[in-house]
Amino acid sequence: MDFTLDTLELDEAAALPAPALVVLAGDDFRPGGDALSALIEHARAKGDFKYEAGTLLTSYGAPQVLAERVLLLGIGDGTPARVKKAVGALADFLKSAKFASVTLCFAQEITGAALEAAVLALRDALYLYLATKTAHSKVEPSQITHITIGVPGTEKRPPQALQTAFARANAVGEGIALAREWANRPANHATPALLAQVAKALAELPRIGCEVMGAKEIAKLGMGAFLAVAQGSAQEPRFIVLRYQGAGKRAAPVVLVGKGITFDSGGISLKPAAGMDEMKFDMSGAASVLGVFRALAELRPAINVVGLIPATENLPGGRAVKPGDVVRSLSGQTIEILNTDAEGRLILCDALTYAQHFDPLAVIDIATLTGACMIALGGVRSGLFASHDELADALLAAGERALDPCWRLPLDEEYAEGLKTAFADVANVAGRPAGAVTAAKFLQRFAGRAPWAHLDIAGTGWKGSGTAKCATGRPVGLLVHFLLATADQLAAPRAAEPAPSDKSAGKSKKAKQKT
Ligand code: BES
Ligand code: MN
Ligand code: ZN
Repeated sequence: MDFTLDTLELDEAAALPAPALVVLAGDDFRPGGDALSALIEHARAKGDFKYEAGTLLTSYGAPQVLAERVLLLGIGDGTPARVKKAVGALADFLKSAKFASVTLCFAQEITGAALEAAVLALRDALYLYLATKTAHSKVEPSQITHITIGVPGTEKRPPQALQTAFARANAVGEGIALAREWANRPANHATPALLAQVAKALAELPRIGCEVMGAKEIAKLGMGAFLAVAQGSAQEPRFIVLRYQGAGKRAAPVVLVGKGITFDSGGISLKPAAGMDEMKFDMSGAASVLGVFRALAELRPAINVVGLIPATENLPGGRAVKPGDVVRSLSGQTIEILNTDAEGRLILCDALTYAQHFDPLAVIDIATLTGACMIALGGVRSGLFASHDELADALLAAGERALDPCWRLPLDEEYAEGLKTAFADVANVAGRPAGAVTAAKFLQRFAGRAPWAHLDIAGTGWKGSGTAKCATGRPVGLLVHFLLATADQLAAPRAAEPAPSDKSAGKSKKAKQKT
């Protein structure tokens, strides 16, 4: 899919011969003397069109308009959330379109954030899973290959702020698509080895490197908790290390750790049969890390990022780890595995310990970790846990900007009480209460000194049921926004909130980077 951003006034849009023209207008629209303004006014006067977000009116052969069809689309107050909703209303039209290109023309000024929301909503509507479908399915992908977005303006190029937002949206969109694609693939088409191949392919992109370890190397490192989960499966585990280098070699990186359980049967603590297929999505955290690297390659921010993905299946069998088994984690702490279905934290704890090697600026893990978090927050907000307020605030803010929101949950020490056991340093489960929090408390023991955050995406990583079941690609948007903001902050003067007049100072550009 190809996207172009252009300046396009309504009179110019009217003069474009095209199969379809979508005109987006909301409360801030001020009609001019052009044919499209006249159409909007007419439709509003007749009560067939409203500025309300998502209102859609399709017409053919509008007077003085060269496009074959004109679609009027209400965007309400023009905020990113409204624009997203509005463009979502175009989904059916876009999916079934029988032509190759469409132009979306904003009839009023919009913000970069609203433009970004529009691009992401378009990409979302046009994503189609095909990997394991054949001609027998008779699915017809949309024929649209090119989308032009027009924004008001008489200059040749749109304002810089819109161009930047547009580039970010396209990069994030590519990242989301990659994350969705791999999360959607069934476990036999998305094994640990295949995920490693995806990472290796990403390393062909500029500034990205990748290293992959197999069972032997994982054992040699001493990742006893990770290996305990992997030992029940015939698929060999992989430990994937991705690096994006956008800053100086010695600048401390942000480390992203993605849970890569390619299938979670629960192990010996077997899950019920109903809905077990959904546990193919249990590598959504890993997929989001892959998606972030895809976006980084495009946007090339001045920051270093490491991606760590422990990837394995969680299966029962003669070699599988058993409830009550005690294993030694990479940190040296012993763990009593009371429930083999609490496997995510077992692979993550070793990756979190490994993350300390990089002397990180911050460590963020992303995991479909607990059903409890899904119950608590549903599919709207991801659960956020953080050891440092500054990191929490940055992630919360990034989530709002990206329309990929999260919500902070507590980490009081009292919540760790239930993880105590007579037979090891820590147990891998506590009781049922506050299951999302006790899981986070377990991880926190392995987080080390660097600021650490944990995103529980059990409720947000995928949505729908039946044929509408689909990975969301979250939280790629949140993470990319966070990394871009962190890169800006690293480049800016030390003061947290530089006064506007200070902008040119820039003297501490290198000062904040670790040497
Ligand atoms: N992958 C699951 C969490 C999950 C459940 C994600 C449902 C999405 C939807 C995780 O490995 C798991 O099984 N967690 C257990 C933990 C429990 C045994 C303490 C859970 O949430 O039930
Ligand atoms: Mn599990
Ligand atoms: Zn799991």
